[in-house]
Amino acid sequence: MARFARRLDALPSYPMAEIPALKRALIARGVDVIDLGAGDADFAPPQIAVETLAAAAREPAMSRYGFQLGLPAYREAAARYLERRFRVRVDPIKELHPLLGSKEGIAHLAMAVVGTGDVAIVPEPGYPVYQGGTALADAESYIYPLTPRTDFLVELDEVPADVIRRTRLLYLNYPNNPTTAVAERSYLERVVAFCRRHSIIVAYDNPYCEITYDGFVAPSILEVEGARDVAVEFHSLSKSFCMTGWRLGFAVGKAENIAALGRVKNYVDTGSFLAVQAAGAAVLDQAEPLVAGYVKQFQARRDAVVPALAAQGFETPTPRATMYLWIPLPEGVSSGGFQRRALEEAGVVTLAGSNFGASGEGFFRIALTVGTPRLVEACDRLGRVLAAV
Ligand SMILES: Cc1ncc(COP(=O)(O)O)c(C=O)c1O
Repeated sequence: MARFARRLDALPSYPMAEIPALKRALIARGVDVIDLGAGDADFAPPQIAVETLAAAAREPAMSRYGFQLGLPAYREAAARYLERRFRVRVDPIKELHPLLGSKEGIAHLAMAVVGTGDVAIVPEPGYPVYQGGTALADAESYIYPLTPRTDFLVELDEVPADVIRRTRLLYLNYPNNPTTAVAERSYLERVVAFCRRHSIIVAYDNPYCEITYDGFVAPSILEVEGARDVAVEFHSLSKSFCMTGWRLGFAVGKAENIAALGRVKNYVDTGSFLAVQAAGAAVLDQAEPLVAGYVKQFQARRDAVVPALAAQGFETPTPRATMYLWIPLPEGVSSGGFQRRALEEAGVVTLAGSNFGASGEGFFRIALTVGTPRLVEACDRLGRVLAAV
């Protein structure tokens, strides 16, 4: 019998891990599955990404190791994007670091910042990697429940003083997955002041900053004065540019913090494919028009789905950001049970709120990953499941 490390027991089961196999089994049985599970839209990636990748792949130099430096042109394009979009100026070599998707950076930062006896504040419901990364670093998660009471914001003054004394890391994610909540700049100012006072690093996870609606513009935490001392912000090309499988993102923050992340990464990866980084640079230089095209389509889907859900008895707040809908279930209906019935009886992949932690109970999440007719069809099917529970 193999024996595994104790930290493996501290890892909660990963919500998305079992769905692909269940989905395959249903498709094999002839079920017409509509997958609204993962945040992975069906839009094509930008043409410029494909063309730049194809050309770069023909250059032998692009097939060499990228190491942590990666392609300087990618770092420079990311820095230009941050300056245009948020008025945040960073040194592309010292204050920015390419990632193989933001997920790995989020998990690896914990290894650089926390260890045994330290605490990371983890919002829940939330992206499971905050808790998983903390567990892999042998540190302790302090779960902060996100509820409508605080507009799904983490209110740090409510965390007990003895926990704060041991806290070295805070994960925050606005626009938020899965609740779709957004944070105004004034909130981020309060967070930065608190974290400076208590020497806490904020891992500010910002992959949805471009997917916003109705005039809302999501800030970077680095816009806040003094934030650079405490914040490491994570950006991703996955969601804004429909490039989930390309695995490309970047981290940005104070040189010392970025260097700490790089030291960990030296021992786990050797950089993403340089040709992918070349494509990323081309995309980031055209970020604004590319994003506008995708957001228009996400918004059309959102505007069709909210009334379609309402017609089926789901009262869903209209999200101001993200590609998700966070849908309340009637009192007493378990989200895990609803997810299972939606899949088995209606062929619709959803994610139960409980997948995102106990505080997610009472909700389920769908993602705007397929065209409007299929989304509306999914709403009809979910309505039938609701009527039967
Ligand atoms: C909140 C949040 N952070 C980070 C990620 C990771 O994105 P990626 O690793 O593709 O950049 C996701 C993906 O779903 C997410 O929802």
